[in-house]
Amino acid sequence: MGLRRGETRRALLKGLAGATGISAAGLVVPRWALAQSGKLKIGLMLPYTGTFAQLGVAITNGFKLAVQEEGGKLSGRELEYVTLDDESDPAKAADRANQLVTRDKVDVLLGTVHSGVQMGMVKIARESGVLHIIPNAGVAAATGELCAPNIFRTSFANAQTTYPMGKVLVDRKVRNVVTLTWKYAAGEEAVQGFRDSFTKGGGKIVKELWLPFPNVEFQSLLTEIASLKPDAVFVFFAGGGAAKFLRDYQAAGLKGRIPLYGSGFLTDGILEAAGDAGEGVETTLHYGDGIETARNNAFRVAYVRNFKIAPDVYAVQGYDAGLLLAAGLKAVKGDISKKKEIIAAMEKAEIDSPRGKWKMSRAHNPVQDMYLRKVVGKENKVESVAIKGLDYPPASVCKMAG
Ligand code: PHB
Repeated sequence: MGLRRGETRRALLKGLAGATGISAAGLVVPRWALAQSGKLKIGLMLPYTGTFAQLGVAITNGFKLAVQEEGGKLSGRELEYVTLDDESDPAKAADRANQLVTRDKVDVLLGTVHSGVQMGMVKIARESGVLHIIPNAGVAAATGELCAPNIFRTSFANAQTTYPMGKVLVDRKVRNVVTLTWKYAAGEEAVQGFRDSFTKGGGKIVKELWLPFPNVEFQSLLTEIASLKPDAVFVFFAGGGAAKFLRDYQAAGLKGRIPLYGSGFLTDGILEAAGDAGEGVETTLHYGDGIETARNNAFRVAYVRNFKIAPDVYAVQGYDAGLLLAAGLKAVKGDISKKKEIIAAMEKAEIDSPRGKWKMSRAHNPVQDMYLRKVVGKENKVESVAIKGLDYPPASVCKMAG
């Protein structure tokens, strides 16, 4: 082939783009060569079917947009995606995550949306040490008792999104509230965050109502709410279930009679599906469509141009996962084997997010501003910052060294 010295190595490395570890001549390629030059394997374990399907798609889109804006590569490394539908099914979660790590040998495990599924992924991440980025699921343990150096979250902790709403309702002198949500970790922690600040300020939760995930048969619960006549209702729902809940709340005649509040997942990404049933609903969240910054506007324009759909909080979280990984890889010039240095860079990174700039807590969860938003037309308009720079539950729960 007539290669000069130096070119030989470059040509060999180029031939490795398939990341098989075996060169054309049948040579086994040293690990360092693959770590620096083969394709980076990203395991996307997300819901692509069921009530959270559109959330998984938005996260995937957001991540890919961030990579595209880096020139389609991260620190010179092309990416290869291995995509797996987790179906929001906790029972299969650990096996599926293990398959990505052990069989597919992904360099980065990215996912997921559902807190129960997340617990299975965290288990595998802790056992294997694989770099793990959580782009949604808010389960407290992931950046609490089970925190680990290789586990990062670019989204929120469940209670972080609802703690501000308790404060908002206390300030408005709302007294008696009924809560309603799915009975699983995300719902339980969402209610806990709300309860913490609401009852501390003198509010009373007159009844906690639950239904199993992903059940959307709300009728009997809405009848019960009508007879309890609270001052307000607080809920956690998301995705398809949230759109259905808003429509049912309106159809039951409760809209306009009993004010409805929640974490922003209630109204994010689903306003088309909800018709006018979301109009006027106020929520708290770390993002809002109407954040008027050049950064957010540029992100929204680029997202719509690429995917022909408006972005939402899930798209932002996926995008920020891409920014975070890019920051980690830059510090090591794309050498994924230098995990300690990557982790150190990710811990220090200031993420210039469409939501506003944020950094990791020492538990690897975003410390971020929480907005009070209101649905106006098909947008979640930002009314105010409900709490600035919120770290909740406090990072001190995490016993990780450092
Ligand atoms: C969760 O299960 O942690 C979860 C799911 C959907 C959301 C927010 C949290 O929108």
